[in-house]
Amino acid sequence: MAVGIFDSGLGGLTVLDAVRARLPDLPLVYYADSAHAPYGVRDRDDIHALTKRAVEHLWASGCDLVVLACNTASAAALRRMQEAGVPPGKRVLGVFVPLIEALTERQWGDNSPPREVAVKHVALFATPATVSSRAFQRELAFRAIGVDVEAQACAGVVDAIEEGDMILAEALVRSHVDALKRKMPDPEAAILGCTHYPLVQDIFQDALGPDVAVYSQPNLVADSLADYLERHPDMVGAGQANTFLTTGDPRRVSDHATQFLRRRITFEAA
Ligand code: DGL
Repeated sequence: MAVGIFDSGLGGLTVLDAVRARLPDLPLVYYADSAHAPYGVRDRDDIHALTKRAVEHLWASGCDLVVLACNTASAAALRRMQEAGVPPGKRVLGVFVPLIEALTERQWGDNSPPREVAVKHVALFATPATVSSRAFQRELAFRAIGVDVEAQACAGVVDAIEEGDMILAEALVRSHVDALKRKMPDPEAAILGCTHYPLVQDIFQDALGPDVAVYSQPNLVADSLADYLERHPDMVGAGQANTFLTTGDPRRVSDHATQFLRRRITFEAA
């Protein structure tokens, strides 16, 4: 029984860890497309083609349900893949909706018309491709009115994290927060719209200040997945073992993953 979790690299491990804490008995197959990370600087067609290939690999490995634990892939590829149709018995889900439901105080699947919500000024931090897709703003507009979103494309942060260069990652986060604050001096909430960013969440919070509520995805996605599997228990596919696959160098990726999660993670070649 396995569910697939996909990211361009190591960021989706933040989601995997939260899923593991929430659903300890659920076997997971993690797929990191490290050879092609970062996705955030690629164009839409490229991201779609890479994401489709990875998801098909996970489906073929026995995962009936695949979670795109990558906002960039969710923004550029999810809708297109769903509209093109997925094979019978297979599903692919993204990571935006649980976050936006939390921000807009909605229960899962509440499709009532958009309404006013408490939060009015929201900072969005995401990759250049996610920001230019405007997917967050679109999903938000389905649920809330009167929310001012200022987006900051955080170039370089994913690369620095993938390289394990946390000094560079910190400097980049601080400069992106400064840039955001020049456009929106007093955000009430900040969305970390990239699954790599929880690895530097403390730095975002420190740079934003204690009064800004920081929304990050891992726990929200884990809760939403638990809810989904309760309603669709048949979506847990074949396979019993937890597996970590990468298109990059397994040893190097394992070392960086071990450093981030502070437990031994061993990747194999996809
Ligand atoms: N973790 C991915 C996301 O959530 C990073 C994308 C990238 O590779 O640039 O967007």
